[in-house]
Amino acid sequence: MPPPAVRVGLLGCGVVATGFLRLLRERERLIRESVGAPLIVTRVAVRDPAKRRGADLSGVALEADPVAVAAATDVDLLIELAGGEAVFDALRTALERGVPVVTANKHLLSLRGEELERLAAASGTTIRYEASAGGGIPVLQALEHGLRTERFQLLVAILNGTTNYILSTMERDGRDFAEALDAARKLGFAESDPTLDLTGADTAEKLSILVRRAFRVSVPHASIPTEGIIGMEQEDLRQADRFGYTVKLLGIALRHSDGLDLRVHPAFIPKRYLLASVRDEFNGVYLRGEATGSMLFYGKGAGALPTAQAVLGDAVAAAREIVGGVRYPRAAPEAEPGKRLPLDEVRTKYYLRLIVEDRPGVLAQVAGCLGGSRVSVAQMFQAEGIRGEASITMLTHDARDRDVRDAVKGIAGLPAVRKAPRAVRIFDL
Ligand SMILES: NC(=O)c1ccc[n+]([C@@H]2O[C@H](COP(=O)([O-])OP(=O)(O)OC[C@H]3O[C@@H](n4cnc5c(N)ncnc54)[C@H](OP(=O)(O)O)[C@@H]3O)[C@@H](O)[C@H]2O)c1
Repeated sequence: MPPPAVRVGLLGCGVVATGFLRLLRERERLIRESVGAPLIVTRVAVRDPAKRRGADLSGVALEADPVAVAAATDVDLLIELAGGEAVFDALRTALERGVPVVTANKHLLSLRGEELERLAAASGTTIRYEASAGGGIPVLQALEHGLRTERFQLLVAILNGTTNYILSTMERDGRDFAEALDAARKLGFAESDPTLDLTGADTAEKLSILVRRAFRVSVPHASIPTEGIIGMEQEDLRQADRFGYTVKLLGIALRHSDGLDLRVHPAFIPKRYLLASVRDEFNGVYLRGEATGSMLFYGKGAGALPTAQAVLGDAVAAAREIVGGVRYPRAAPEAEPGKRLPLDEVRTKYYLRLIVEDRPGVLAQVAGCLGGSRVSVAQMFQAEGIRGEASITMLTHDARDRDVRDAVKGIAGLPAVRKAPRAVRIFDL
């Protein structure tokens, strides 16, 4: 006999949870038909139960303790939309008693995802987290099911809508960084404190989650070399355009014979790349598999309803298993540390832009720094500036990343260099 209802414990009642409750109400019939029973929220945990809520919570027990919700006997499925590390104990409580978990918590997953997967496997249940990377794009489901046995060589992704909006606006409207950030804030694409977005940390968290699924390796996000878009100037975007590139903040996972190259940084990418047309607040995940070749997943990476739909998709999948009595083998997760290729050893092309004194001999000094670090130049432009300055823009050939960084350090130390050089990697395989 199937249960009369799948009883849901919900942690959080903020932006995503409110969207989730709305979809639960609006899609009630579809959900019941898909699952074979209705999904009914029995308990909700919030920080402040006295706060007025936008969602209708009549008939629902509202409390402040997430662990109590996870442990409650009238909860068959735990949906965690509170965020942060503090909810770990609640997730552990649910998983240890065999209750499946759905979460959007990229931060916790990138820190302790492997531990949570192990807890789920040990009790023959599941933890699903489609909404945690790529928001509404069903890329984790695809990796978990249809692509489970594929071997990937490459994953390159635009995973942060805030920075993608800023870069797109700078490129399209000729705005500078501060103006574009301001516009992102006004449209609700940037939080009041966008540090995690701008520094690339948010992208690194999501990359670590995707890589666990696509490459079956466990990589804490803090070990991924990460650079953000702070300091990107309008002139860099103009120069990118002149050379046939666009600028994107990328999460990159590239399989080499001697290890996995993982990194997050802004990059010039050729305009012909599919990812070049992922603009504004949209996200894109490009994958290259041995059997499947190229694939692009594209869509909204954040926002109440796209994220809530990803959560609902996971919730319905988990609920179907509850109703069908599906149990999983108590298998250890397959993710391993995996061999890494250090960023120092990665070979890549670079864009460099320098402001130097406009006098004879300066170019030779710059060339000396590059040559001394075995970096050769593929293209160069020099433009006369004002006040006796010249702007030099260069694209290098492939070189070891450490060698280019050494050369840039050397150039920055030349007395004729007026401003710290700009250096951006080119991603053009
Ligand atoms: N927003 C997006 O577009 C988006 C996209 C992808 C993933 N996510 C992820 O989804 C999760 C939720 O994001 P959100 O934007 O919906 O956050 P939010 O609007 O700040 O809502 C968080 C909710 O969780 C509750 N909460 C926080 N800590 C709690 C605790 N320790 N115990 C009990 N309740 C707690 C808060 O209670 P009070 O209301 O009482 O303060 C609030 O209701 C996060 O993990 C986030 O990274 C969000």
